Amino acid sequence: MTQLMHYPDLQVCVLAAGQGKRMRSSRPKVLHPVLGRAMIDYLLHTVEMLRPKGIALVTGHASEMVQEHVGQPQNLEWVIQDRQLGTGHAVNQCENVIRDVRDVLIVCGDTPLLRTETLAKLIDEHRDRNAVVTVLTAEPKNSYGYGRIIRDGDGRVSAIVEEKDADESQRNLREVSSGIYCVRYEALFDLLHKIGNNNAQNEYYLPDIVPLALKDGKTVETVVMEDASEMFGVNNRVQLAEVESLMQQRIIHDWQMNGVTIEKPESVRIEAGVSIGIDTVIQAGCYLIGSTRIGDECRIGPNAVLVDAMLDDRVNVFAFSHIHGANVGSEAKVGPFARLRPGAELDEEVHIGNFVEIKNSIINRGSKINHLSYIGDTEMGSGCNIGAGTITCNYDGANKHKTIIGDDVFIGSDTKLIAPVEVGSDATIGAGSIITKKVKEGGLTLSARPEQRHVTDWQRPKKKI
Ligand code: UD1
Ligand code: MG
Repeated sequence: MTQLMHYPDLQVCVLAAGQGKRMRSSRPKVLHPVLGRAMIDYLLHTVEMLRPKGIALVTGHASEMVQEHVGQPQNLEWVIQDRQLGTGHAVNQCENVIRDVRDVLIVCGDTPLLRTETLAKLIDEHRDRNAVVTVLTAEPKNSYGYGRIIRDGDGRVSAIVEEKDADESQRNLREVSSGIYCVRYEALFDLLHKIGNNNAQNEYYLPDIVPLALKDGKTVETVVMEDASEMFGVNNRVQLAEVESLMQQRIIHDWQMNGVTIEKPESVRIEAGVSIGIDTVIQAGCYLIGSTRIGDECRIGPNAVLVDAMLDDRVNVFAFSHIHGANVGSEAKVGPFARLRPGAELDEEVHIGNFVEIKNSIINRGSKINHLSYIGDTEMGSGCNIGAGTITCNYDGANKHKTIIGDDVFIGSDTKLIAPVEVGSDATIGAGSIITKKVKEGGLTLSARPEQRHVTDWQRPKKKI
């Protein structure tokens, strides 16, 4: 768990104006989800945990979409960069919203793996060393695409050279810039005003504040990240998948440390908004999506899909079941091959078996629907036993109608309940019935059955040779 910190004299500047051309998408890059949560949401959470004075979010490309998604958090200021002329130009747009702080922390919106602790270390070292500019650097396995850190004979940083501007020997350098900086506020905008765009991309590069600060005799420091993967930026969909897989390992690790058993962890998907109780076992191939909440001591899968599902304690979900927008009470059993759709509410100890679909229905305590049924728009009491193939015929082609079933009802196999219809408590319905009228409490109800005949002189057809 990330610890809440407190940096009241810090302003954060988040750069997210770029189009993300390499994503080839109609939506802005920072809105692409990683395990069900937009990239920008991770980043904003990470910087909010620092509890800074404020956050300036620079957007430009499709900024309305970003604004609509993020909403209006209390300490967030929107900064619009109409034309994306480079990272230095982007930070410069924040001049009017940043004031009266000691330092400005600059981060990019496309690095969801970044941790609050890493940023705190950068800020603390920057302050301990009394630096004016501190660059967070890393030594990834592959430095392609990143700005390379250039050091002088004494090992001190002298410049950052972008991939497109670098010569052969500079490209071979392993240490790169994460694109994350901590800069003394009083110096930042003076430095930014001096940046030019005489480079391969004709952009105003933020990294150019490094040589400019050194030229003014100011202290520039670097802090190396322990885990280079934290700065991985998403520029295309290959990197999106890589970052998602790293995030998945992190989330799975956290649940394992919290007492959840995960079989074949490489085969499951557990999204960021999911929560799981202790001693629950997640079996191979499960997908836990959206806001799914699972209680303690449950067993899920293999290959179950849970989307925005709520499961109480000690629930058993058997293989290949699909649960979407449904609530499941404790000690219930679901599946294998069951489908619970939105509005399905199962009370404690309910059993839903194979090839059963439940939609928008309340099933009370201990009722069992074990085989091949469709139950929709129904209220069912407790202790019922619904035979194989029972169907609530809830749709007349135009409108949906309700079926109400009392407690301790026994419905024989292959019964059709033509809604709207009611079945009283303790009723028994004979197999194959078509129920169109209210069924009285108790007793046996069955609809007329076709007469059974026996044809004695009948010959089975024989295969022609
Ligand atoms: C940038 C850095 C590079 C660093 C790398 C780390 C520069 C020039 N390069 O390269 O040194 O190693 O990040 O990932 O800073 N943005 C704006 N407005 C702009 C341009 C960019 O807001 O005009 C935003 C983008 O939306 C993005 C971030 O700044 O979130 C970085 O831009 P990007 O184009 O991804 O830069 P890189 O080429 O990755
Ligand atoms: Mg980038």
